[in-house]
Amino acid sequence: MKFITVENYETLSRKAAAIIAAEVIAKPDCVLGLATGSSPVGTYKNLSEWCKNGDLDFSCVSSINLDEYTGLDGSNDQSYRYFMNNNLFDHININKDKTFVPNGKATDIKAECEAYDNRIKEMGIDIQLLGIGVDGHIGFNEPDEFFTKETHQVTLDPSTIEANARFFESIDDVPKTAVTMGMGGIMSAKKVLLIANGQNKKDILEKAFYGPIDPKVPASILQLHPDVTVIFSEN
Ligand code: F6R
Repeated sequence: MKFITVENYETLSRKAAAIIAAEVIAKPDCVLGLATGSSPVGTYKNLSEWCKNGDLDFSCVSSINLDEYTGLDGSNDQSYRYFMNNNLFDHININKDKTFVPNGKATDIKAECEAYDNRIKEMGIDIQLLGIGVDGHIGFNEPDEFFTKETHQVTLDPSTIEANARFFESIDDVPKTAVTMGMGGIMSAKKVLLIANGQNKKDILEKAFYGPIDPKVPASILQLHPDVTVIFSEN
């Protein structure tokens, strides 16, 4: 595992974008595993700029996102599909038909999860971008008694609902459930890039990467992955 500490969010975002850009340049038809939340916003901004400048070409790239709230469709501005369009896909020359986000509005969530896992298996993820929750969640794999391998529906932890309330008008508007890629999908990525910023992420990073591997700290499973880069900025 490579643990890179940087001085601020701008540097974190530039470095993370550079790692993803290197992947796109080396393998123009690569599959990017993508995340939402506040951590990757700067990374996506850099990738968008570099694409606009002509330094990056996403025309053959596909993507698979980690998660989506249940009950929100892509036109809802709180949905992760909307976030991805707004923060990245609308600014780069990716073919949107090759960008995948779980369908939180699926009538049969179980079938949606199975289909998502089949897609992950078929496409294969070259590099998975991750953030980390203050409770150690990756994707929406919340602390539990065991690690869940498959894509599945989860009930969000109260700390996750509280953390995500900043994106909604009120905490009551935050969906209580979500669909998330499971640990099998995340661990199947050839490379993992986890980005975290802020003092409130320091303790959980310490536990996840230097403590025991424990489903109560979901990100700790990444200690078993052969190619993980963590970029952390306290500011
Ligand atoms: C988002 C996701 C979550 C976030 C995590 C950190 O797709 O999967 O695991 O990465 O909640 O969120 P931020 O970056 O907002 O601190």
